[in-house]
Amino acid sequence: MQTGTTLTQDLRVRGTDEALVRLMDGVATASKVIADGIAQGDLGDALGTAETENVQGETQKKLDIVSNEIFISTAQASGAAAGLASEEMEDIYPLVGDGEYLLVFDPLDGSSNIDVNVSVGSIFSVLKSPSNNPTTEDYLQAGNTQVAAGYVVYGPATVMVLTTGQGTHCYTLDRAVGEFILSKESLQVPQRTSEFAINASNQRHWEEPMQAYIADCLAGKEGPRERDFNMRWIASMVADVHRILTRGGIFIYPIDAKLSAKNQGGKLRLMYEANPMAMLVEQAGGAASTGRGRIVDIAPEHLHQRVPVVLGSRDEVAEVEAYYRR
Ligand code: AHG
Ligand code: MN
Ligand code: MN
Repeated sequence: MQTGTTLTQDLRVRGTDEALVRLMDGVATASKVIADGIAQGDLGDALGTAETENVQGETQKKLDIVSNEIFISTAQASGAAAGLASEEMEDIYPLVGDGEYLLVFDPLDGSSNIDVNVSVGSIFSVLKSPSNNPTTEDYLQAGNTQVAAGYVVYGPATVMVLTTGQGTHCYTLDRAVGEFILSKESLQVPQRTSEFAINASNQRHWEEPMQAYIADCLAGKEGPRERDFNMRWIASMVADVHRILTRGGIFIYPIDAKLSAKNQGGKLRLMYEANPMAMLVEQAGGAASTGRGRIVDIAPEHLHQRVPVVLGSRDEVAEVEAYYRR
């Protein structure tokens, strides 16, 4: 019998620092446990709403809380992280030991989809820790300093997509042996696309350039873009980005008047949603922008800062930026 290359073997072959291999092994373990909980569906006890709200005032699902705890314990066990930050925790979470990395994560992305049996995911970003006892400021590093970034999509198959700065690679969970196996190497996002993903129910709240861009896509062959566009929206960023890394497209969560009224700079969080996805997409030859500049060049001011996100096929991201410049 033959098996493929495991995640750990592949990271070693690529010359990855041993502590980072241990940390990624911890993330892989966390996601196997989460994948198992999700796969139990209504037969398990992971589904449903908790009685609590997170720091952003969103109602937490039971699985949001459980996934967060699993990430904490496997990161601690790896001995490779000095501390953590998560969507589900207001403040940074110091770990004991002398780990050299910081792990910043969204333990469960797309939680509104859990109860309806649609794909959800986990997103993570790895930074170098400037000290053994990192402060909040130590976490506020621009995305261009990430040493690794990835997500796991809990779909029909559980797949981890990871970059350590040497391309973006896919590892599929082989449930029979309990290992992530290298399944696609060096993903390449097609440069051109005719497929966009946006929550169009917010259209009336968008800024003028976004209104114009989507209107021109919808005008199709007869409009200024001179071709028909297709639309997709899964409402799990992980699943939408996975489609884009697989067959191209553009994913947009713009700033809008409703978000601005709540003093939010966007819907998606810079440090554990936008930055890791931006690194993965750029490492696959795509682009990631706020519409006004590269996401990974933003100097974070807060752990839970939000930003507009426009990412995917390079030509189309450039097209959106051109609407913002006009
Ligand atoms: P989370 O479940 O971690 O709060 O993130 C949900 C995000 C993202 O996954 C998705 O793209 C977006 O929110 C969905 O937004 P809508 O509710 O506007 O569809
Ligand atoms: Mn999320
Ligand atoms: Mn989440």
